[in-house]
Amino acid sequence: MAIAQRVRQHMQAASWIRAMFEQGMQLKQQYGADNVYDFSLGNPVLEPPPQFYEVLHHLITHPRPGMHRYMPNVGYLETRAAIATQLAHETGMPWTADHIVMVVGAAGGLNVVMKTLLDPGDEVMIFSPYFVEYLFYVENYQGVSRVVPTNAQFNLDLEAMAQACSPRTKIVLINSPNNPSGVVYPAATIQALGELLRQKQTEFGTQIYLVSDEPYKKLLYDGLTYPDVYPSYANSLVVTSHAKDLALPGERIGYIATNPACVDAHELQDGLSFANRTLGFVNAPALMQHVVTQLQGVTIDMRQYARKRDFLCTNLAAMGYQFVKPQGGFYLFPRTPISDDVSFVKSLLQRRILTVPGSGFGTPGYFRIAYCVEDSTIERALEGFQEVAREHGLA
Ligand SMILES: Cc1ncc(COP(=O)(O)O)c(C=O)c1O
Repeated sequence: MAIAQRVRQHMQAASWIRAMFEQGMQLKQQYGADNVYDFSLGNPVLEPPPQFYEVLHHLITHPRPGMHRYMPNVGYLETRAAIATQLAHETGMPWTADHIVMVVGAAGGLNVVMKTLLDPGDEVMIFSPYFVEYLFYVENYQGVSRVVPTNAQFNLDLEAMAQACSPRTKIVLINSPNNPSGVVYPAATIQALGELLRQKQTEFGTQIYLVSDEPYKKLLYDGLTYPDVYPSYANSLVVTSHAKDLALPGERIGYIATNPACVDAHELQDGLSFANRTLGFVNAPALMQHVVTQLQGVTIDMRQYARKRDFLCTNLAAMGYQFVKPQGGFYLFPRTPISDDVSFVKSLLQRRILTVPGSGFGTPGYFRIAYCVEDSTIERALEGFQEVAREHGLA
């Protein structure tokens, strides 16, 4: 048996997601990719903004000696300084390059944070619906995931959270705008969360770190202002990337920002640097660090996602689907008309529509539609959504 038992078990636990993916591949071969409506992955169809190509072109036509060499494990000083300047502008807080670590995407960043903070048996509080990889990341460092459900509107349930907190709680991991629900946690919730975590730290005499996973932070609708965690809680770290806001998921570029108000900020920076190196990332990709240094104020055109969101929501609502309208990101998480979300997703599959059952996010009874696809894919899938709605007795 080649692969480790643990890996085998995890692969089996996630096997139906893979089965769905494989069925999708088969359908694409059988009917042609254009006739399969793939809403299963958060892989944005948008291209990066024009400024990305301008900066990239300038860099490769004006190469600087040493620009592809090793660097400090935390990343280039000028890149981190550019991010610190942008964060100071956004938050009014005293950021410096020493609060920033460049990482290999948000996924890499979360692993770096967990390796830095977790001792075996430490607990990580996670809220369902959740990004399924969180469970595997926690396990990587022998942590223990404590899953706490959100409320009916997918907002944090602070009472449930308070009950789930223990002296072993080391990390509280939130994700807003949320994948899969599209919810942005309101400022009042973030403030109350900060208050609760301070109380729990005092009660247990421990340090609890709020880790905010924010790759969708810039993808907001309807003029919403993003409620940052920094002012509400000192022991906080933000993990983010430019996978979605600059449409660069394959380039694997992101950063960790440690709250300047965190008393352990200096020690944390050293720990994060060590973890980045010893996890084998060494440092984030050099070329992309040079690029994003100059793109901190740039975001993809959100009007395109807004148009897709509005079109999809209007049509699905008219068919009787129930959901919370996304406030950010590019995922919609409707209720399934039958309780068996896996079987519902299979009936969509029969219409060549690929989605993901809520069970994959720890929340059965829902399904996720990633609408970061071509408009024509959404338009052509509507008939199938309608047929399945009728079949399951929706209005
Ligand atoms: C909630 C969440 N966190 C982290 C990630 C990983 O992002 P990255 O591609 O920057 O590693 C994703 C990717 O889809 C995500 O949805």
